[in-house]
Amino acid sequence: MDMADDTNSVTLKELKEAMSHMMEELGKPNLADYFPFLQKIDPQGIRRRNTVTFRKLINLFGRIIDQRLKVREASGSLKDDDILDTLINMMVVDQEKKEDQLDKTIIEHFLLDLFSAGTETTSTTLEWAMAELVKAPEIMSKARAELDQVIGKGNQVKELDVSRLPYLQAIVKETFRMHPTAPLLIPRKADSDIEISDYIIPKDAQVIVNVWAIGRDSSTWENPDKFIPERFLDIDIDVGGRDFKLIPFGAGRRICPGFPLAMRMLHLMLGSLLHSFDWKLEDGVRPDALNMDEKFGLTLQMAQPLRAIPVPTKH
Ligand code: HEM
Repeated sequence: MDMADDTNSVTLKELKEAMSHMMEELGKPNLADYFPFLQKIDPQGIRRRNTVTFRKLINLFGRIIDQRLKVREASGSLKDDDILDTLINMMVVDQEKKEDQLDKTIIEHFLLDLFSAGTETTSTTLEWAMAELVKAPEIMSKARAELDQVIGKGNQVKELDVSRLPYLQAIVKETFRMHPTAPLLIPRKADSDIEISDYIIPKDAQVIVNVWAIGRDSSTWENPDKFIPERFLDIDIDVGGRDFKLIPFGAGRRICPGFPLAMRMLHLMLGSLLHSFDWKLEDGVRPDALNMDEKFGLTLQMAQPLRAIPVPTKH
């Protein structure tokens, strides 16, 4: 969604802050999830705080929609430039037909879903990838050499180029292995009693899949705590839910629907950042001393956000 023309009334900073607050709260272990009788009491205040943040975000999206409706009314044209235009066009058709399948409330909640599931997951993965590369300059040089060779100096990376950039793809996979941004996926519940590898999972048990631990399992991965993209060059591992060794987007019917978009964006953004800039750390920070501690929320973020300095590439 292009929000450039909506910035008069809505600050992107406000959106980013509310999103990040929401992700942090949603990731906190909530006693009421394990002892349902506590739900009404909300002993940690998590639901109360989340209600305030959700309301704030819904209002914010409401303001964006109103602003867009105003602009469209003034110009008298039905634009179809981004997802918000498309949703508004569908809403207008519904109103004309006197159907109420898509109204402003549904659009507000749909945007909340997309933004909460799609923004921090993608940006955090990119940040981890960049941190690993700044920490290992030889890997960054190898990636940049591949880009120079395939894309050529002075040219921009395009989506179509990604299939010819195996090392870049391997870096993204290695980032997913070590830093899955949804480390415990989304909790599941067993429909019925089921036996898996000699364990009985009783009906209605909540099942939490620890993707982070799978990625760090030494019986599956050699040197699991080392960032080695090369490990993916000779094996064909798909991150789309078929290889259970690497399922950063989950698997099965509830697999992340944003998977194709996220994969496109990540390769394009990472490729562009590496091809257009050389990267260095602030004075005094040694690559091998970079703080890679994790902060646990609904997404797994860097405890200390990466601060890297871009130096434009001379072409
Ligand atoms: C690197 C980026 C991303 C990662 C790692 C990621 C990961 C995930 C994971 C692990 C799940 C839960 C799946 C499961 O439990 O099996 C999920 C669900 C979801 N994701 Fe993503 N995601 C990313 C980007 C996106 C984007 C860009 C969008 C949309 C624009 C998106 C929309 C959603 C939605 C709507 C759900 C909930 C689906 C449901 O409950 O049925 N995600 N994502």
